[in-house]
Amino acid sequence: MSNLYYGLDDFVSDMNNLLALGPTQQSLFDRGSRYLKQLILNPNSIEETFKLPYGKGPRPFHGSYLLHRGTNGLSIISIVWGPGDHIDPHDHLTWGMIGVMENCLTETRFKRIDNHKRNGFAMLEKTRVDKTRPGEISLLVPLSDEIHQIDNETDRPTVEIHVYGEDLSKLNRHKFDLKTNVVTDFKSGKYDNELRCR
Ligand SMILES: [Fe+2]
Repeated sequence: MSNLYYGLDDFVSDMNNLLALGPTQQSLFDRGSRYLKQLILNPNSIEETFKLPYGKGPRPFHGSYLLHRGTNGLSIISIVWGPGDHIDPHDHLTWGMIGVMENCLTETRFKRIDNHKRNGFAMLEKTRVDKTRPGEISLLVPLSDEIHQIDNETDRPTVEIHVYGEDLSKLNRHKFDLKTNVVTDFKSGKYDNELRCR
């Protein structure tokens, strides 16, 4: 299928078919990345509204929009990171694929180097820093490579599509404080387009 016409419905259908096969992690990422790449290379695949900052609330230059939530756990979200946007290191507890549609983003990856035995405590070690650009995808691998910090170091918004194997609002995830080594539990809140519908 041509990139020009590959849209969200095509992506959802391809991902659902792939997940129904019960793929290995490698196959999931290989094929899923190919599908996601087609989606993010088509500038018209996502409604324009979902590529813009929300414009109000505590983070007016940020936006997070739920594009799809399936009964099989498949979740697709568009995130807009404003200039200077930052999120501290956090985990995901499910597989993920993140593709950049517009501009670029700095993603810093970490691994835990403590023994996981002290409640509320974690020591992280930085493993790499990647600059992700349009058409590029980074992968979140549960338990082994899924802790990251995100920064938009540019002076304009960055648009990304996030794809996860679970509904993040149902997962108890963790934020990590690099200075104090304190771990804080958190859950994803509502997306901006869900709030708008209330
Ligand atoms: Fe994340």
